[in-house]
Amino acid sequence: MANNSSLILYFSRNRGLVKTFFFIPTTLALLSTLFILFYISTTSHLFFNHHQRHHQHKLTPFILKNNPLPPPLKSSPVLVSLLNVSNNSHGDGRVRNQRSVNVPMEANGNSVNKEVFHDRDIFLEDYKQMNRSFRVYVYPHRRNDPFANVLLPVDFEPRGNYASESYFKKVFMKSHFVTKDPSKADLFFLPFSIARMRHDRRIGTEGIPDFISHYIFNISQKYPYWNRTGGADHFYVACHSIGRSAMEKAWEVKLNAIQVVCSSSYFISGHIAHKDVSLPQIWPRQEDPPKLGSSKRNKLAFFAGAVNSPVREKLLQVWRNDSEIYAHSGRLKTPYADGLLGSKFCLHVKGFEVNTARIADSLYYGCVPVIIANHYDLPFADILNWKSFSIVVATLDIPLLKKILKGISSEEYLLLQNNVLKVRKHFQWHVFPSDYDAFYMVMYDLWLRRSSVRVQWSTSLDSNW
Ligand SMILES: *[C@@H]1O[C@H](CO)[C@@H](O)[C@H](O)[C@H]1NC(C)=O
Ligand SMILES: *[C@@H]1O[C@H](CO)[C@@H](O)[C@H](O)[C@H]1NC(C)=O
Ligand SMILES: *[C@@H]1O[C@H](CO)[C@@H](O)[C@H](O)[C@H]1NC(C)=O
Ligand SMILES: *[C@@H]1O[C@H](CO)[C@@H](O)[C@H](O)[C@H]1NC(C)=O
Ligand SMILES: *[C@@H]1O[C@H](CO)[C@@H](O)[C@H](O)[C@H]1NC(C)=O
Ligand SMILES: *[C@@H]1O[C@H](CO)[C@@H](O)[C@H](O)[C@H]1NC(C)=O
Repeated sequence: MANNSSLILYFSRNRGLVKTFFFIPTTLALLSTLFILFYISTTSHLFFNHHQRHHQHKLTPFILKNNPLPPPLKSSPVLVSLLNVSNNSHGDGRVRNQRSVNVPMEANGNSVNKEVFHDRDIFLEDYKQMNRSFRVYVYPHRRNDPFANVLLPVDFEPRGNYASESYFKKVFMKSHFVTKDPSKADLFFLPFSIARMRHDRRIGTEGIPDFISHYIFNISQKYPYWNRTGGADHFYVACHSIGRSAMEKAWEVKLNAIQVVCSSSYFISGHIAHKDVSLPQIWPRQEDPPKLGSSKRNKLAFFAGAVNSPVREKLLQVWRNDSEIYAHSGRLKTPYADGLLGSKFCLHVKGFEVNTARIADSLYYGCVPVIIANHYDLPFADILNWKSFSIVVATLDIPLLKKILKGISSEEYLLLQNNVLKVRKHFQWHVFPSDYDAFYMVMYDLWLRRSSVRVQWSTSLDSNW
C-alpha cells in the first residue's frame, strides 16, 4: 500500500496546496526526529547499563519486554505507526482519547474552516456507540422523600432562563441511558437541582452548600461508589450561576466530579474545561421559528439587555447611537424576536456571567451569533467548530466591532448562516428527545468524559506494550 503518496494526495485534495507545502517539511522533520530517536533507542543498550534500558519501554513501545534485541531496521515500525497516526481523521488508527478536547488548529490563520463538526465521521460513529452502550446510575429517591421536589424531575414542562437544568433531568430519567444496576454504570448522576433548592424555603440560596455537603455525606455512607473514585465518575447538572458557589462545602465535587454547568468560564477556578461540561443555556421554544426564509435582515447587529457588566457598558458606550449596530438597554418597544429576525448578526455579550440564552436565541431565529464573552468555554466546543457558525470577538475589540462585521463578505455570511441552520437542532430541548438535540449532545459530552478514572495504573504499562 502506497501509504506515503496517498497520504500526501489526501491532503492536497482536501486542504489545498498551501497545506501540502506546510505538511511535507513537517512530515520530513518528524520522520527524521523519529529516525534519530529510533537510532538512539536501538543502539543505546550497547552503551548503557540495565536500569536505563528499563526506561526504553516507555520511549520505544515496539521493543518487546523479554527481548533485549531491537527489531531489525528493515521492518521500519516507526514509519508505519507514524503514518497511521497522521491518518487519524479517516483511517483506522484514529486517536480517541477520552477527556481530551480535540480542537484542531488551523495552520493557515485566515482560511475559514467551513465544517460544522471538527470531525463528523468520528462524531457520528462515536455517537452511535454512546447511544448503544452508555449507562448511568441515578441515586434513587422516593416520591415521599421530604426533598423529592429537589431530587426528582419536575412534573411540568420546564420554562424560562434556567430551563436547561430541569430539562436535562426530566428527559434523562425517562431515557434508555438509566440503569438500575450500578455495576453496569459508566457514570453516576447526583440528581439534586440547584434551581429547585433556590426556591425551597427550607434551603434557600444560603443553604445550598450545606445541603450538598450533607447529600454527598449521605450517599458516601450508604453506597460504596463515591468513595471508590472520590466522586470522579459522578456528575451533577446546574444552569443557574449560583451553582458556582453551591459546591463551596463539597470540595470533592468541585475538584473531581463532572460539573455540567451553564456558567462555564475557564477564567474561574471552579471550572475545568476538559473535566466539566458546558451546558447550553436555552430559552425553550417548541414551535418552529416564524418565517425564517423570508425575514429581511436590515440591521447589521442587534443587542438588547440590562447593562449589568463592564462589557455591556462598553458596548453601549461605543454603539448606543449607531445606525447599523442596534444596541439597546432596558425594555424593548418592539418584540424581541423582531430584533433577532431583522439583523444579520446578534450579539451575545457577557453579563454577570459568560453565559446567557442569547446564543440559542440567535440560532433559533437564524441570526449569526457574535460572542463577546472572554473565557467562555462554549457548549459542545469539543464537537462543534464554532468558527463555522459564529464570530468570536474579544472584549477589547468592541470599538472594532463594525469593522470586523463589515469585513465579512456576503459569501462568508451566507456560509455562516447556513451553518447556523445546521447546528440549530443541537441547541433545542424536547420533552421526548430527538437525536442530536441538546439532551443527546450533553450525553455525548458526558460519555467522552467517562471511565478515565478506571485506568488501572499498576498494570497499564504491561498491558500497553
Ligand atoms: C498501521 O496500519 C497498517 C495498515 O493499515 C497496519 O498493518 C499496522 O498494524 C498499523 N500499525 C499500528 C502500529 O497501528
Ligand atoms: C488512511 O485513510 C484512508 C481513508 O481516507 C484509508 O483508505 C486508508 O486505509 C488509511 N490508511 C491507514 C494506514 O490507516
Ligand atoms: C439512539 O437511541 C434511541 C433509543 O434507543 C433510538 O431511538 C435512536 O434511533 C438512536 N439513535 C441513533 C443515531 O443511533
Ligand atoms: C441525609 O440523611 C439524613 C438521614 O437519613 C436525612 O434526614 C437528610 O435529609 C439527608 N440529607 C440530604 C441532604 O440528603
Ligand atoms: C466512605 O468514606 C468515609 C470517609 O472516609 C467513611 O466515613 C465512610 O464510611 C465510607 N463509606 C463506605 C460505604 O465505606
Ligand atoms: C449618543 O447620543 C446621546 C444623546 O443624543 C449623547 O449624549 C451621547 O454622547 C451620544 N453617544 C455617542 C457615543 O455618540
